[in-house]
Amino acid sequence: MPAAPPAAELPQAIRDLKRRRNAVILAHYYQDDTIQDIADFIGDSLELSRKAASTDADVIVFCGVHFMAETAKILNPGKTVLVPDPAAGCSLADDCPAEAFAAFRARYPAHTVVSYINCSAAVKAQSDLICTSSNAVQLVQQLPADQPILFAPDQNLGRWVARQSGRELTLWPGSCIVHETFSEEALLKLKQQHPEAEVIAHPECQQHLLDLADFIGSTSKLLQWVQSSDATTFIVLTEPGILHQMRLKAPGKQFLDVPGSDSCSCNTCPYMRLNTLEKLWRCLETLQPQIELDEETRVRALAPIERMLAMST
Ligand code: 13P
Ligand code: SF4
Repeated sequence: MPAAPPAAELPQAIRDLKRRRNAVILAHYYQDDTIQDIADFIGDSLELSRKAASTDADVIVFCGVHFMAETAKILNPGKTVLVPDPAAGCSLADDCPAEAFAAFRARYPAHTVVSYINCSAAVKAQSDLICTSSNAVQLVQQLPADQPILFAPDQNLGRWVARQSGRELTLWPGSCIVHETFSEEALLKLKQQHPEAEVIAHPECQQHLLDLADFIGSTSKLLQWVQSSDATTFIVLTEPGILHQMRLKAPGKQFLDVPGSDSCSCNTCPYMRLNTLEKLWRCLETLQPQIELDEETRVRALAPIERMLAMST
């Protein structure tokens, strides 16, 4: 295992390696600030998928979680796709095993299967359409009105999509360990201390918290909202990694994150935060760990992703 350069030299070493490998670094908003600052592109799941589909780099380093890197590989079978820490999973993807999902689907043979992108390639391969939190409502609304729909794996997102679209959805009972952790008590206290603040939330939050939100949207939509809103203080109900870009894009405004139930720091995603600058350097140096997929699963998973990209504006 090669020794990493000293911490202060890591950013330059990563830039040099990136050039040598003709690599692109894609990062999700929930990554540490240091990783966001070195990335070529930062985005939400939909934007990152679009970027992965259009890049001409030979190597994609995906600083996010496994299902995101896997999606990049599904779209780019000929490219090397690296993930700094292969243990960076997702509770939603983990709670929806392919075999159990197949049994669930079999109970609803007439349903169209819409799966949130936070799922494994094996679940995508069993789906008719993939969505993200930024296009889920728009995509569901495009399906024929009499078409029954099965939605997996996030039940909180599914309930919100059902309310927004007016469609009845049959839900897989999954949830995100991070977005389920926010404390209503802490939120109400923050609202009392900052009555002028707007509450903004990711749709993976539970309904009783979404009911208290002034605006609900994907990470990118939340970022756009804080830039365009007249408000100057925001209580942010999503992983606090997003606050880095909010502070950069809306300087002078105040952003408050909401703690988990026991005032713990469990509002940070433990999977996303496994990636570090050192692991990023190491994966570029060794070209490991790579995302590998069997070709049959990849081809079956590609169709519903391509359908999503074609259907979303
Ligand atoms: P976005 O699509 O909003 O980036 O959400 C991804 C995610 O994992 C949220 O927990
Ligand atoms: Fe998965 Fe939740 Fe982490 Fe997003 S925040 S990657 S949904 S565990």
